[in-house]
Amino acid sequence: MSDLTGFGNYFNLNGKVALVTGGSRGLGLHTATAFLKAGAKTVIITARKYEGPQGIGQAVQKLNQLPKIRGRAIGIAANVAQIEGIEKLVSEIQKLEGRLDILVANAGATWGGPFETTPDWRTQKVLDLNVRGTFNLARLFTPLLESSGTITCPSRIIVVSSIAGTHVPHVGEHGTIVYAISKAATHHLTKNLAVELGPKNILTNSISPGFFPSKLANGLIEILGGEEELKRANPCRRLGQPDDIGAVMVFLAGPGANYM
Ligand SMILES: NC(=O)c1ccc[n+]([C@@H]2O[C@H](COP(=O)([O-])OP(=O)(O)OC[C@H]3O[C@@H](n4cnc5c(N)ncnc54)[C@H](OP(=O)(O)O)[C@@H]3O)[C@@H](O)[C@H]2O)c1
Repeated sequence: MSDLTGFGNYFNLNGKVALVTGGSRGLGLHTATAFLKAGAKTVIITARKYEGPQGIGQAVQKLNQLPKIRGRAIGIAANVAQIEGIEKLVSEIQKLEGRLDILVANAGATWGGPFETTPDWRTQKVLDLNVRGTFNLARLFTPLLESSGTITCPSRIIVVSSIAGTHVPHVGEHGTIVYAISKAATHHLTKNLAVELGPKNILTNSISPGFFPSKLANGLIEILGGEEELKRANPCRRLGQPDDIGAVMVFLAGPGANYM
């Protein structure tokens, strides 16, 4: 018999405090939902907009109405492409909770269009959020994450990258070259963070999703022929669904991934 002393507890987030950037919709909202269902104490979601049908306010309301949760969701509006936005988050989370166990760097932006005419401001916007923002989130939250982690149960950084970072997804009229290079950068950033922060009891992993219907992806899904066409092209014959993200996030954030 093997001594699996943690079995039964691999996916349990009891007592954990998590921050999910871009948590007002899409993959971030799926993640926040899964964390609360897995027992997290506090899930802080952030995005730029608080009000409106896509804002943080409505997401927080929905999250706090989830049945059978013991924790709560909190929303803080912040632009994580800017250092001031991240500093505001650090200071508010310090005041609210005094700790952070899980940081999910999920907020991301894309741009599609012909290579030659890519507007420079678009390039800057994508790189500022996807690369600089992720780097600065990890850097400025390191003290809080370090004080929460232990050698047997390290705190976590989970970077949401993309399969676009490992191959050349689209070129030509609807090319996504800047998005692709930003996601390739986050792969290498993740490796660097894992080595830099491992000794501080912070584990860093990244995930590389394929297509999930969302505000960010829907335009490209339509341009590429629609959901049915993309399903046919996918070896699993379907696109991603909320549970696919929820499951991997809970695994990477929980005790089952203590040595990942
Ligand atoms: N959907 C896919 O098929 C897919 C595939 C691979 C990877 N991904 C990655 O998954 C992540 C989430 O994408 P999604 O598809 O869920 O997109 P989405 O539905 O458009 O959600 C993006 C989220 O990020 C927030 N956000 C955008 N800019 C921000 C900023 N500067 N500061 C703070 N928050 C900001 C948005 O809220 P506000 O606009 O109000 O700020 C929103 O909450 C991205 O990193 C994306 O690259 C997505």
